[in-house]
Amino acid sequence: MEKDVPDNLFDVLVVGAGAAGLNCALHLPETLRVLVVCKGGLKESDSFLAQGGICMLRGEDDFEDYFNDTMRAGHWENDPATVRCMIENSQETIRELAARGVRFAREKTGELRFTREGGHGKPRIAFHADCTGKEISSRLLAAAKGRGNIALRPETTMLDLICGQDGCLGAVMRENGTGKIYPVYAGATVLATGGVGGLFRNSTNMRLLTGDGLAVCYRRGVAVDHADYVQIHPTTLYGGGRGRRFLISESVRGEGARLLNAKGERFVDELLPRDLLTAAIRTQMEKEGSKFVRLDLSSVRGGKKTLLEHFPSIVRRCAKEGYDVMRDPVPVVPAQHYFMGGIRSDLWGRTTMPRLYAVGETCCNGVHGKNRLASNSLLEALIFAKRAAEDIAAGTVSVRTDGDYDPSNYADLRKLKEQSKEKVRREVHGGIQ
Ligand code: SIN
Repeated sequence: MEKDVPDNLFDVLVVGAGAAGLNCALHLPETLRVLVVCKGGLKESDSFLAQGGICMLRGEDDFEDYFNDTMRAGHWENDPATVRCMIENSQETIRELAARGVRFAREKTGELRFTREGGHGKPRIAFHADCTGKEISSRLLAAAKGRGNIALRPETTMLDLICGQDGCLGAVMRENGTGKIYPVYAGATVLATGGVGGLFRNSTNMRLLTGDGLAVCYRRGVAVDHADYVQIHPTTLYGGGRGRRFLISESVRGEGARLLNAKGERFVDELLPRDLLTAAIRTQMEKEGSKFVRLDLSSVRGGKKTLLEHFPSIVRRCAKEGYDVMRDPVPVVPAQHYFMGGIRSDLWGRTTMPRLYAVGETCCNGVHGKNRLASNSLLEALIFAKRAAEDIAAGTVSVRTDGDYDPSNYADLRKLKEQSKEKVRREVHGGIQ
């Protein structure tokens, strides 16, 4: 990066360093100066946590089935054009990842291996053991670190957007360590700030994900859709103290794990879409007056060998909590996992404010409808982040500093934060019991 350019003027500002933010930055032309900021450390994103995998169209004859599985899981509230766009771009996305060095499980022939999760009529999920998100995100992060035009700035919290007559001109930042507040001006601003799990007591998400992108959009009159469309994952490990809930990937059920009631009997089709399975588990728990149901992993096809090869982190974590997964059914309980609502965005990540984009979990482009189909999230994040980059590159990026940044607006930070959090909390929890 050139030394004589001020460090608060960039062609593109990306807020969030998960898969969406990084992929957007990486697809911008290397002639553009890009700043990626994130609220915590560079690895503190939900993308790093994703276990199951990433969906891919298996072949043209699978197109309508994949489309219908996505729409059915989403209660047909999905935007069909967005779903088609995601499916059409899925194979290219996996090829791109492989070219970046992402390792996927493969058959002896070298072909990709696929697993299955709830709501899918057939296996179409590419994976890397039970840490696909980490495998993908760490490759993207390494690539971003190697790019001379991308600056990465962790431990930086976005407080507000800077707006002018032309739309969004950048954002107001706070350096976590020092508390220094300063403006970053950019020709285009991309919000990739993730979900809302930090607002829930029980969530699989990083605790720092508190809907910050939503908060600034509410404040600035940018449209937000379906803030109450929150996904609950059916199977997280029960117990384990406070903090983030540990996910037991849906793909263990795709590979044959069974859900059992207190009598040790199966009570449900384990591969129902997430919302339906969560409802069935809750009904079962209420009937029994119990705090969890059990997941029997010993029935996974291929037994111990599969468990150790495909699900090593899950096996390890269960062992840490005292469960031998080949012998003990583990207690599981539903917990918040994903956010289908968000900042309204189109097929190119454009929001209702000029120069402002939203990608990944923080946006609502309609692809997931009311309930996301398993393992569509990394795919959607990567594809629409790349499209946002292409849209930015196709336009004229001009940095302007005549926005409404006024440091005195941030004098009472506590009040501002409370107001934002309260607004997001009210909207997000509005439809949830
Ligand atoms: C899982 O592995 O069950 C989660 C994957 C996803 O959220 O799609």
